[in-house]
Order: sequence, then C-alpha cells, then structure tokens
Amino acid sequence: MEKLLITGKQRLYGEIIISGMKNSALPIIFACLLVPDDCIIKNIPHVSDVENSLEILRSMGVKAEFVDKNTVLINAKYAKNEIAKMELVSKMRASSYLMGTMLSRFGKVDISMPGGCNFGARPLDLHFKGFEKMGAIFTEKSDKIQIKVNKSLKCSKITLDKISVGATINMVLASALTQGETIIENVALEPHVDDLICFLQHCGAEIVRKNNSIVVRGVKRLHGTEYTIMPDTIEALTYLTYLGITGGYLNLKGICPSHLECATDIFLKIGMSINFAQRSILAKVDKQLTGTDVTTSPYPGFPTDLHPQFASLLSFCKGGGSITEMVFPTRFKYVYELQKAGVQIYNRDNIAIINESKPHSAVLDATDLRAGAGLVGVALGAEGESTINNVNYIVRGYENLVEKLSSVGGKIKIIKGEN
Ligand code: EPZ
Repeated sequence: MEKLLITGKQRLYGEIIISGMKNSALPIIFACLLVPDDCIIKNIPHVSDVENSLEILRSMGVKAEFVDKNTVLINAKYAKNEIAKMELVSKMRASSYLMGTMLSRFGKVDISMPGGCNFGARPLDLHFKGFEKMGAIFTEKSDKIQIKVNKSLKCSKITLDKISVGATINMVLASALTQGETIIENVALEPHVDDLICFLQHCGAEIVRKNNSIVVRGVKRLHGTEYTIMPDTIEALTYLTYLGITGGYLNLKGICPSHLECATDIFLKIGMSINFAQRSILAKVDKQLTGTDVTTSPYPGFPTDLHPQFASLLSFCKGGGSITEMVFPTRFKYVYELQKAGVQIYNRDNIAIINESKPHSAVLDATDLRAGAGLVGVALGAEGESTINNVNYIVRGYENLVEKLSSVGGKIKIIKGEN
C-alpha cells in the first residue's frame, strides 16, 4: 500500500484548479444506467471511486470508458441485470445508487450491501422505505439486499424522515422513468443533488425542485447527452484548510464560489482573507488565524465532509475551538491519529474539543477519506517529515493531491509501503 511523505512548515503559494465533484460524478455515472444512448460526461475526477463505479457498470455489460483524462463515455443500451464485479459494490457507499437505477430499469435488484467510508452506522432504511412507497418489496439478509417490484414502480408521495443525500438521490433515480408524478419531500439541498437533476433534465427527464421538495413527472424514455460535472466544493474547502495551516495564498480556480458559502463565512470569521470572483477565489493568510466553534449540518450548513480537515486547522488556530458533529455523530476516528501528532484534541459525545497545539511529525494512519485529508493538513503544518499510511482512502476522493500540493510549494511525495 502507498504512503505519503510530507515535510511540514512550507507556505503554500499559487494556483490550484479544482476537479469535478466526486459525490456528483458517482450518482451521474450510475444514472447512465437509465439511458440507452451515449452519455458523454466531462470534468469527471479521475479518482478510485470513479474507476470502481465504471468497473461495476462494465461488469454489467455497459460500455463505460475514459475518452480522455476527465471525460467518460457511457452507453447502457445492453446493460444486464447481473453484476460480475460484486466485490466492488461492497467497497463503495455510492453503489447504493444501483438500487434506484436497477429497480427502475429491471424491476429487480440483488446486490451486496454497499460499503464506503466507515465512520459509524450508515443505514439505508430511508432508501428502503421510499422504494416500498413506490411499490417495491425488499429483503435484507446480513450482507445482501434484494428488492423487486411486481410490475413496475408506481408514483407516490415520499416524505423522508430525515434529510439524506443518498436517499434523495435514489428516489430521484427511481422515479425519473416511473409513470405519473412522484413527490419527494424533506429532501437534501446539496448542490450535487441539483447537479444530478440537471443531468437527468439534459437527458429529457421532467424534474423540478421546489425548495425542500422535488417533483418528478416520469417520462417514457431518457436520451443521451453531453454533460459537465460541477466543481468539487469539498476539495476546494479542504485546500482552504491547508492554506489556513501553512499561510500564504491560493487562487482556487474552476469553482462555483456560491457553493462554498456554506463554509467561507467561517474561514472569513477566523481571519482568512478571501476575494470572490466569478469562477475562482483568491484566499490569503499572513497571520495566525483565530479559532472558533462550528457545528456541522446538512447543506447549506457547515459540511460534515470538512469536519476532520477543519479540526486539523483549529489545532493551529489561536485559542483552538470545537466541532459539533450533527450529521454522522460518530465521525471521530481521526481524533486518535491527530493526538499521535501532538494535537490536543478530545472527543466527548458528538463534539471534538481542540486546543491550540504545536503538532509534530508522526506516522499516521488514514482511517477514511476525509480523516486522511485532515491528516495531510496536520502534516503540512508540523515540523519535520510525517508519514501517512493507507493512501488508498485519500485517493478515493482527491484527484492529483500530490501534484496539486507540490505545484503550490508543498513538500509531499507518494511512496510504496510494505503493508
Ligand atoms: C453522502 O453520504 C456522501 N457520500 C458523504 O460523503 C457525505 O458525508 C454525506 O452524504 C452527507 O453529506 C456520497 O455522496 C457517496 P446521508 P450518504 O444519507 O448519502 C442518516 C465523503 O467523504 N441516514 O446524507 O450516505 C445517516 O446515518 C462521503 O465524500 C439514515 O439514518 O449520507 C446520517 O446520519 C462520506 N438512514 C444522515 O442520515 C438512511 O437510510 C445523512 O446521511 C440514510 C441516511
């Protein structure tokens, strides 16, 4: 397995082009199962979760190939209701989107339990309840999910008991070709949900968001299209945490600044200077930032996917701070790793309390994608050379992390490890 070697205390200066959003690309890739024509998807981040999703589709008889580094062509005309690479389904949470798409296309789903980042319970009950409202019958046997419909899915009014990105996406996927009007209430407001809706609209779907409801009028057929994935908000915000730690300036390009407002207010509050332009932001840090308390919540709140990276940043801030986790209350595996680097961080219930610290170099283990990204942050700010193991978690979601950080002055390299 590969490791990262990072020599800390290098200021970051320069320009980074932000990649397409992983959590938007994955549902859009699986949505192509609903389309029997060529779909050309641009600005796809070349990360391992994307590669695994394409591999799953190929193993179902779908044509799914990169036509250049960040563009894929998918044609699902000859898709079979059989997944030869089932082992990949259990590696990724996003493979849960097979439920909505396969149910719609084949009336039947028989898959392994979707896996993904392991930071506590990741139930799928809201997805199952929604499918049941649409007439599906499901059985869940420890590590298998079987769902079927008698004839076809039926339109319905579905109110999600809790806001869930995945359940919202699955209901949209399941209803795009379901005759009649499906109303989905209490839906997630994340911009990447709208990116999926926009992609489906390009394919001929009739979907309208009305505040926190989505109304889908099922169409008979979707057609192929060309579509560009939105920029990755979490990647951009992660680089802002690194800048906050090292100081310097970063010009983040190819982004949608309004999507970052869920967190940029906090970066401004702690003392970062940010100039917003149409498709970029220029952020500068020339003094120690001042810590604060943040609480994660669904969009437009502070993102849970920035939690571990922001915890690392707070350890370098005057007075430290705290993070109250309201989306995944047990997302704290990273705490022990930060302690290994000398960060004074403690977890009580769903809160991390972080004191201003003087982190030192250490050998750290990434435990999931964003936890790993948080460890990169602490290593960038620590004196000396740190090692981060389990890079496979980090490359699930950050395209060209080493190249991008090196290009702005970070001292970081990737090497082969023994484990
Ligand atoms: C998506 O996960 C993302 N994953 C996660 O990103 C992200 O952290 C999360 O949304 C929240 O923004 C992908 O897009 C592949 P949820 P998802 O359903 O859809 C509870 C990353 O680092 N819940 O919105 O699985 C759940 O336990 C990853 O890129 C139920 O109770 O998240 C949580 O408390 C990690 N029952 C809350 O809802 C359900 O059936 C929100 O989860 C489903 C969810």
